[in-house]
Amino acid sequence: EKGGYKHFMAKEIAEQPVVLADALRHYLPETGLNLPEDLDFSNIDRIVLIACGTAHYACAVAKYWFEEFARIPVEIDVASEFRYREPPLSERSLAVFVSQSGETADTLAALRYCSERVAKTVAVVNVPTSSIAREADIMLPIFAGVEVGVASTKAFTAQLLVLAVMALKAGRDRDVTDGPTLSAHADTLRTLPGLLNQALSISEPIAHLAEQLAEAQDILFLGRGAMYPLALEGALKLKEISYIHAEGYASGELKHGPIALIDRLVPVIVMAPYDKLFDKTVSNMQEVMARHGMVLLVSDAKGISAAQDGTWGTLQMPDIAEPFAPILYAVPAQLLAYHTAVAKGTDVDQPRNLAKSVTVE
Ligand code: F6R
Repeated sequence: EKGGYKHFMAKEIAEQPVVLADALRHYLPETGLNLPEDLDFSNIDRIVLIACGTAHYACAVAKYWFEEFARIPVEIDVASEFRYREPPLSERSLAVFVSQSGETADTLAALRYCSERVAKTVAVVNVPTSSIAREADIMLPIFAGVEVGVASTKAFTAQLLVLAVMALKAGRDRDVTDGPTLSAHADTLRTLPGLLNQALSISEPIAHLAEQLAEAQDILFLGRGAMYPLALEGALKLKEISYIHAEGYASGELKHGPIALIDRLVPVIVMAPYDKLFDKTVSNMQEVMARHGMVLLVSDAKGISAAQDGTWGTLQMPDIAEPFAPILYAVPAQLLAYHTAVAKGTDVDQPRNLAKSVTVE
């Protein structure tokens, strides 16, 4: 049932082009956006995105999209913090709960807290019969299919896709982003299955680099803008399955502390498509190289030709229009964790101390 792959995780990473094509067929048919009528952003003054773990990082990426396309304030929080904070909410807030399993105890409790206090609750889930799916006002399935590997992979990219389509609708409902721009974004999303397929071909070079990454005690991930949450996700995935200590940082935070960790034994993985923030990230990367850090630059052709000097390694990604790079760069983040874990010989699909569905708080 692993379909020729050594692990479920490898199979699920490879399934992403097909999963996203399925979700696109549903949410972005030729006729335009397909989301429920009652998911209306026009009279909302705030969006609250709540989840745990990897699903929380999907929310953290989506915050950038909602703010850019719809100019609406977005709050993100981990469910375990949100629920006990008794946060003030208004009837003009929309609360969105993202969960692969739909059974995560803290996320469910946060949903229950919001139910009577906000305009509408929305569940973005993989299991349409789950508790979170049933209790929310609106349920949006991500169509990822069963995810067996404990480390979430295809559910993450499918969550991102659904959140991206929601953000496009928010931009349209609020008349903030013009039609042609929204259509161009929709077209970019439609190219994802093909681009993800291309991105999967970096599996082999990553397997090679992983032999050395597996020797590290600590690994840092850096990203800016919507790539920052992806740095957090890359670090989470790596520590979950390889047990190597890893942290993600916003590139600009480096000099505020973490740069003290850098020496020649610390790999620093920089997720930086050639976008409007590229130069800023490169200058942070140079600060790392000046301290003999081992930089692995993950970028596109332009980014790599502009900044590969002095790096330890590069991984070349296909080009993608700016806002949606995090969906594509999830692939190297996942494959880096996967191959490093394989090189270390850990139990990739069943990492120690972790459960697939966390139904206790
Ligand atoms: C990480 C991972 C976890 C889950 C988290 C939330 O790879 O799988 O961090 O993302 O436990 O689970 P769901 O999405 O089922 O609510």
